[in-house]
Amino acid sequence: MNYRHAYHAGNFADVLKHAVLALLLEHLRLKAAPFCVVDCHAGTGCYDLAGIEAGKTGEYRDGIGRLLAAGPLPALLDGYLAAVRAVNAGEPELRYYPGSPLIARSLLRPDDRLLLSELHPEDSQALRRLFTGDRQVVVHRDDAYAALKALLPPAERRGLVLIDPPFEATDEFRRLLRGLGQALRRWPTGIYAIWYPIKDRQPVEAFLAELALLGRPGLVAELCRFPADSAERLNGCGLAILNPPWRLDEALATLLPALAGALEAKGGTRLSQLDRAIDRQTMLS
Ligand SMILES: C[S@@+](CC[C@H](N)C(=O)[O-])C[C@H]1O[C@@H](n2cnc3c(N)ncnc32)[C@H](O)[C@@H]1O
Repeated sequence: MNYRHAYHAGNFADVLKHAVLALLLEHLRLKAAPFCVVDCHAGTGCYDLAGIEAGKTGEYRDGIGRLLAAGPLPALLDGYLAAVRAVNAGEPELRYYPGSPLIARSLLRPDDRLLLSELHPEDSQALRRLFTGDRQVVVHRDDAYAALKALLPPAERRGLVLIDPPFEATDEFRRLLRGLGQALRRWPTGIYAIWYPIKDRQPVEAFLAELALLGRPGLVAELCRFPADSAERLNGCGLAILNPPWRLDEALATLLPALAGALEAKGGTRLSQLDRAIDRQTMLS
């Protein structure tokens, strides 16, 4: 396990992932019944952008740095930006970046729960420290897909699973599809948000085609910094959302171009149904 998210925290990929995560949680908050969030590749939960790792790459400058410096942003980003501002309270400028666990935590109500799993020993320790004494949050140190097997379905029977692997393993798409298939058999009605990198398009399209075969309704939201003309770099990233909440497509149709504009993404955005030909696509090559 070489991947450490501290090098990438707050980059353009985190901005897309976390903005959509906040939107999904805001949808879940519309109904009074409690919900459960399962984040099975949780990371450390909070990142110091003045630390050595973030300083080495500076990736956050093209992500959350750009977003905060952009002109007026749609209200759809309010929940996400509030979580970013909350971890920076008292700081003269952007210093910390909240990971998915802290963003999810910021949107829980008193009866909602957050179940986290992180396999890296140091990162899972940091995560435990962050949530010590918080009765709404449980931290595990399990393999993500074993955690899903153990934790699903949650007692609440409504909520969200975030699957956010590091894609270090060459067969990560395959492992993900296998783990997700098992998770869906245990909890077919949960919302699943799956993050994926876009380097070469071909494996992404093959992955999405296989995802569609799992038989759940889904949306695909992508943001590309560069046209997909080099398989060597991270050109963009996407989120596939299974069992998406009602009208999420409309929210994403506003959110994606706003993010692309603020982040000066030159590869365009894509919003489509999982099981249909692309219905809205801009500039992707
Ligand atoms: C992309 S990062 C997660 C970032 C986090 N979800 C966020 O948005 O703030 C992926 C994380 O998965 C962890 N990881 C890698 N393999 C794992 C596995 N098999 N099970 C659980 N976590 C794993 C890595 O240590 C890393 O912290």
